[in-house]
Amino acid sequence: MRAPKHVLVIGSGLAGINAALLASDFADVTLISKSSLEQTNTQRAQGGIAAAITLLDDPEIHAADTIRAGAGLCDPLAVATLTSEARAAIDRLVGLGVQFDQRTDGHPALATEGAHSIPRVLHAGGDQTGLHIQSALIQRLEEARVNVRTGLTVADLAIDAGRCVGAVTDKHETLLADAVLLATGGAGALYRTTTNPANATADGLGLAARAGAVLRDPEFVQFHPTALVGDDSAFLISEALRGEGAVLLDANRNRFMPAVHPDAELAPRSVVARAITESMRAHDSDHVWLDISHLDADYLQQRFPGVYRGALERGHDITGGPIPVAPAAHYHMGGVYTDVDGRTTVRGLYAAGECASTGAHGANRVASNSLLEAAVFSARAVNAIRNHSAPADQPTGVVRSLRLHPHCSAPTFKSLRAAMNQHVGITRDAHGLKSVLSQFDEWSGTSSSDPSLALATLSARLITEAALQRTESRGSHIRLDYPDVDPAWQRSSLWQLARE
Ligand code: SIN
Repeated sequence: MRAPKHVLVIGSGLAGINAALLASDFADVTLISKSSLEQTNTQRAQGGIAAAITLLDDPEIHAADTIRAGAGLCDPLAVATLTSEARAAIDRLVGLGVQFDQRTDGHPALATEGAHSIPRVLHAGGDQTGLHIQSALIQRLEEARVNVRTGLTVADLAIDAGRCVGAVTDKHETLLADAVLLATGGAGALYRTTTNPANATADGLGLAARAGAVLRDPEFVQFHPTALVGDDSAFLISEALRGEGAVLLDANRNRFMPAVHPDAELAPRSVVARAITESMRAHDSDHVWLDISHLDADYLQQRFPGVYRGALERGHDITGGPIPVAPAAHYHMGGVYTDVDGRTTVRGLYAAGECASTGAHGANRVASNSLLEAAVFSARAVNAIRNHSAPADQPTGVVRSLRLHPHCSAPTFKSLRAAMNQHVGITRDAHGLKSVLSQFDEWSGTSSSDPSLALATLSARLITEAALQRTESRGSHIRLDYPDVDPAWQRSSLWQLARE
């Protein structure tokens, strides 16, 4: 069988560019980016990329750590695929020109982060791993035979007889393709307070939903425990600081994590975010403190140049004392359902990176597994595209069908983000979630000339519907009205839009 001739990739982070480069070996590739190529979550990633690459480590240990943190919802096959293909993914990045930091003996410098039982996080430029990866990818893209279109929003996927055959842009242009890969990134910018860039508005989730694809666990939005408090574009303070010994202090400057979990500040991210949220509530404060100032100032500036400069620009010196931090929307574990080959349930449509839900993260992603997921599964998706794969099998479990108007829109991003921040954040309850759903109903007569806002509204609604349905507190979120884990809920939630 001949390889497909035209491949369309939507998104320019690690998953998108890696896929475009690989697909350009056998197809004409068009890569669309909503903004500039650099405005991605990849570019902002600080901590690094996890991989079991030393003799002391093993992909199976990495898999066990990932599953332990995933709060009962990881798919073991997806996790095993992720961790066993990590070394190949790192080798490919190095081949593309990424220079990971090294120790003086020439071996990779490996950091520790929450829930990893062993140091396995490769990093570049200290805490500027994403920047280094993004720059290398863009350089390779400039040399490759890829048609790059920036500043173009996909308004809808083109579907013909149930098959995805391309995409329609906001300029009313139809781009036909034999295969379409969604690599649109995350959902953090559906919230007012987020570590993500403003364009991370879950376009892929909305596009796939409209195309009839199955979605998984949209309710699982991860809130990073430590974003600098000050403005809504919450500056990320990497978990790698806690890996180097930073401690969390409550409003009275007392350390609280040792009483919460044996791994203290390096407990799984969901545990730390929840403990911080509870401490803030107990002290009626909008932040806790993060302190790493006991380490040598020169060392901190060299190990964390990005965090040091970013915090200083915002009026805080990490070398001088504790800085105020609080959780902020950071990563979407839920997304477009895919199998381990990036196949969605719609023929011709693939997804990789943060917009996909491979099942590798369960209900709580482990730090530095996201860049890895983007690298591993984008490559696998391109293999599946090359082989003209059939769509993914329907997942096991009940798929809940939702009848929604897929094109209605919040009046502005500001109103949408305010509603999500207030009621669909790390703490939720039925009352607040229902009030947001009523708000969506009120907006159902509104349409927008901005296709991205309509997609964001649909994605936000899906997150809210799923958050209301999950009557328990698992992984990344706390249901105030259902504070415990419910064993009956140890399953993914699966969703699909009903045909209009
Ligand atoms: C961090 O550096 O803490 C963020 C990295 C991640 O989310 O994996």
